Amino acid sequence: MFKKEATINLGNLVLTLSKALDIADVRITKHSQRVAYITSKMADNMGLSPEERADLFLASLLHDIGISSSHLKIEAIKFNTPPELFVHCITGSQMVGVFPPFARLGKIIYHHHDKWKGPNPSGASYDDIPLLSQIIFLADRLDVQLERDKYILFQKERVMDILQEYSGTYFHPDLVEQLRYVSKRDSFWLDMASDIMQEVLQYEGAYIATRVDMEGLKSIALLFAQIIDRKNKFTGRHSRGVAKISRRLAECCGFSRYEQDQIEIAGLLHDLGKLAIPDEILEYPGSISPEQYSIVKMHPYYTYHLLRKSEGFEVISSWAAFHHERIDETGYPFRIPIDELSLGSKIVAVSDTYQALAEERPYRKAFTIEKAKKILRDAGNSGHLDRELVELLCYEIDFDLGE
Ligand SMILES: [Fe+2]
Ligand SMILES: [Fe+2]
Ligand SMILES: [Fe+2]
Repeated sequence: MFKKEATINLGNLVLTLSKALDIADVRITKHSQRVAYITSKMADNMGLSPEERADLFLASLLHDIGISSSHLKIEAIKFNTPPELFVHCITGSQMVGVFPPFARLGKIIYHHHDKWKGPNPSGASYDDIPLLSQIIFLADRLDVQLERDKYILFQKERVMDILQEYSGTYFHPDLVEQLRYVSKRDSFWLDMASDIMQEVLQYEGAYIATRVDMEGLKSIALLFAQIIDRKNKFTGRHSRGVAKISRRLAECCGFSRYEQDQIEIAGLLHDLGKLAIPDEILEYPGSISPEQYSIVKMHPYYTYHLLRKSEGFEVISSWAAFHHERIDETGYPFRIPIDELSLGSKIVAVSDTYQALAEERPYRKAFTIEKAKKILRDAGNSGHLDRELVELLCYEIDFDLGE
């Protein structure tokens, strides 16, 4: 269990959470991870300091967090990214600021689409562009050239020829040379198309062990909550709302301060798996088809398996991921029996239901507080949600949580 302050592998935590970023569309599968793999390999003999290598690894994984939808992600992987997409560099660089140890990553992310020779929307060119941004840009442009459905070694020459063509304009010639050297080995490409890439990344991430206290962990969760909530214009503050309500209910139920912090993190990350659901389904302006619903139902499954693997998230993972479980076993996707469903999971379930009712959806307006409470009470009375928690929440809405 995560102590009040503990040394955690920040690299591996970010690696695990960032896996959710590139699941939604096959055209971008594992994009962030591949960029991190390529930059790590390039950095092997570039004489970078351990701090620079750590920054390079983390910025590679997080470089595209400023892109909110999978539709824009597809735009960003075009070799000549449209200039208006520069906004994702600005947004991403601001977003990492919520966690002070990531402050240095902001500048790297800001410049990650800068062409070496310029001109760039950032105003920088040549040596003004941070070296780590230049490395990420080159690695990124390599990955966007790869076609996911073709055998990777057949693509090696074509991809390297394209990158070579832009040596001296888009990319610093020395970096292209470095990449050429690294990419001579077939294993470099085969790693990227296999599970070996995971091993390499875990090994790299393990070096980034940092002392993080509970506040730090909450900041990292908040960073990912922002990514989740920005994905859909109807859920602007959903995760933060669920976190706030869950914490309050937990406090009323006598949870310790430490457990309240944990449930706040569970609230922030409960929909992490939604990053894996295509936007067209999340924003569908009507009732979704059974097929679409079965895809939506995957999100708590992803949340569980992504969080469960993170050190210190053993309890948080079940509190977060069981938010669609119901006490009469009608929920999804695990159908946890009532005697195994913890109070923390039930709290997040009730909080999530209320928060969703209070928000607009593509197919309906936000419910009034009175109507939302009525629906919640009906769910309590019919045995879907914990009735006592429902009453507690309705009481708290009137006195403490109402804004
Ligand atoms: Fe990008
Ligand atoms: Fe990218
Ligand atoms: Fe959910």
